[in-house]
Amino acid sequence: MAHPLYKQEQELRNRILLRPIGLPDHGWEMDDHKAWHFVAVEGDRVVGCVILVPLQDGVAQLKQMAVETGNQSRGIGRLLVDALLAFARTRQLQEIICHARDTAIPFYIKNGFEIYDEPFVEVGVPHHHMRIFL
Ligand SMILES: CC(C)(COP(=O)(O)OP(=O)(O)OC[C@H]1O[C@@H](n2cnc3c(N)ncnc32)[C@H](O)[C@@H]1OP(=O)(O)O)[C@@H](O)C(=O)NCCC(=O)NCCS
Repeated sequence: MAHPLYKQEQELRNRILLRPIGLPDHGWEMDDHKAWHFVAVEGDRVVGCVILVPLQDGVAQLKQMAVETGNQSRGIGRLLVDALLAFARTRQLQEIICHARDTAIPFYIKNGFEIYDEPFVEVGVPHHHMRIFL
């Protein structure tokens, strides 16, 4: 059975990540079953979320990072990334990668990530590969 907060996480991603770029609701849930999920909760409302998808050999991918519009720039994204990295260390992961939308690059840099490889376009949005070694 799904976690009681999962539905709110899905709705947050629909609003913040999918609809603004014209993707269908629930269009990016293919990794959810194998991911670790992190949510920021205020009262009984999910205001931020991110997932960590295990890849191979000590590497995992941060995906689906979103903070509710009215709650952005309040440090919630940083709290989520801190929790994700702390968890990754407990799992002896050595590297976290992500596909960063260009608009979010300063956020990831402030959280210790670096750019590598060439820029690319995913779902019509300019991205860079980013990573952090633990
Ligand atoms: C990107 C996002 C997750 C950041 O979460 P947030 O809660 O707003 O970020 P925080 O408040 O924790 O910011 C942490 C730091 O990054 C900075 N930062 C955050 N977003 C930024 C941006 N777009 N440009 C420049 N700096 C940014 C903040 O100023 C803050 O710096 P400070 O500690 O020096 O004040 C959030 O803005 C969001 O959901 N954006 C829309 C969806 C999106 O782009 N997701 C990422 C897809 S790859």
